[in-house]
Formats: sequence, C-alpha cells, structure tokens
Amino acid sequence: MARILVLFAHPTLEKSRVHSQLIRQIPIQQNITFHDLYETYPDFHIDIDREQQLLLSHDIIIFQHPLYWYSGPPIIKQWLDLVLEHGWAYGANGTALTGKVTMQAVTSGGSFDSYNPGGKHKQKLPEYLAPFENTVKICNMDYWPPFVVHGTHRISDTDIQLHATQFKQMLLSLAADRISAAERAGCFYMNDLFPIPSTIQS
Ligand SMILES: Cc1cc2nc3c(=O)[nH]c(=O)nc-3n(C[C@H](O)[C@H](O)[C@H](O)COP(=O)(O)O)c2cc1C
Repeated sequence: MARILVLFAHPTLEKSRVHSQLIRQIPIQQNITFHDLYETYPDFHIDIDREQQLLLSHDIIIFQHPLYWYSGPPIIKQWLDLVLEHGWAYGANGTALTGKVTMQAVTSGGSFDSYNPGGKHKQKLPEYLAPFENTVKICNMDYWPPFVVHGTHRISDTDIQLHATQFKQMLLSLAADRISAAERAGCFYMNDLFPIPSTIQS
C-alpha cells in the first residue's frame, strides 16, 4: 500500500463547485491523509517541521488546487518556498524526498480544447505546470501526470459527480499500487486510466 498525502489549497472553498465535490470523494482510510492548507494556515505561517514530517511519512504527494493565472493559489508557492529547504529537499545533502512521487489534481475554467496551440490558452495545460514539475524533479521526486477537470464554469452537476467518482477511483488505485509504470507513461492526464461516459463536454 502507498501512503498518500493530499495537500489541498482552495482559498474560497465556500464558493467551489468542483473541488468541494472532489474532496467529498477522498476515501477515508488509514493510508490517505487529507491536509487543507488554507484551513490549517489561514495566516500563511506554515509549520515547516510539521510539513516536512508529513512528507517523510507519505509516498505520494498530491497537490490539489484550482488553476489560478496558470499556476496555483498563493499558499502553494509559500509552501514550496518554505518547506522544500536547501540541504533537506535539494542540494548536495538534500535527499529527504528522494524517490517520492508528486502529482497535481487541478481544475481549470478553460476547456480541454482551449489549452492547445490553436486555442485561447495557446499551450497544453501540462506545459503551464512545468515550473512545478521541474521543482519536484530538483527535489529528486518523480512527477506523474496530473488529474484534471476542465471547463469548470460550464460543467454540469452530473459531470462534476462523474469526475469526483473518477478522482476517488484514481486515489484508491494509487493507494493500492495498482497503476503500473507503463500505464502511467501512456497517459496524458491520469484521468485517462479511469474512463467516464463521453457525454462530458470539457
Ligand atoms: C484568480 C483566478 C484565476 C484563474 N485563472 C485561471 C487560469 O489561469 N486558467 C483557467 O483555465 N482558469 C482560471 N481560473 C478559473 C478557475 O480555475 C476555476 O474557477 C476553478 O478551477 C473552479 O474550481 P472550483 O469550482 O473548485 O472553485 C481562475 C479563477 C480565479 C478566481
């Protein structure tokens, strides 16, 4: 069994349509930890020791957040800046995180098609996640494809629930070590491994 840490960051959860439903589907089991960063640190005073201990006691770290200006909400940046210390997470003796896995579970207002060279956002969504991917790799961690829900402004409640179930299936599979390297390598988004009805227009 893999130990999963979900680092959740949503500054306006009370207005959320999608993440509010995704987090309801996070399985309650011993090897999955849900950690709400805005709830824990409303003043942004991040407890570095606590966060580092959490990282050490888990195998797969999932940053779950909405896409904000092609990045994440600011507490994610604060967390990265403070917790990934030189000499601990990176640098000559910074090997604490070696071999761990990181991925992102993100939602975007823009549709899948709009994240393309010919679309409004010009680039594929994972390209916007490159600074995050490179940061993780500098810290000797593997970076796996993201779980993504597109088109959050137009998506129906039914389709949100389908994605929430898909999210749950992914977490259960990750926790049970059921996703092979070959399967991962073959997917653009982690969602691809957990097909849902094609009625979704996102
Ligand atoms: C400050 C802000 C910046 C945003 N930037 C982007 C963006 O760069 N790209 C995008 O596709 N959507 C963007 N959005 C839309 C959000 O990603 C979208 O509202 C969110 O994923 C919906 O999830 P929720 O229902 O859980 O809040 C932005 C929204 C806000 C409030």
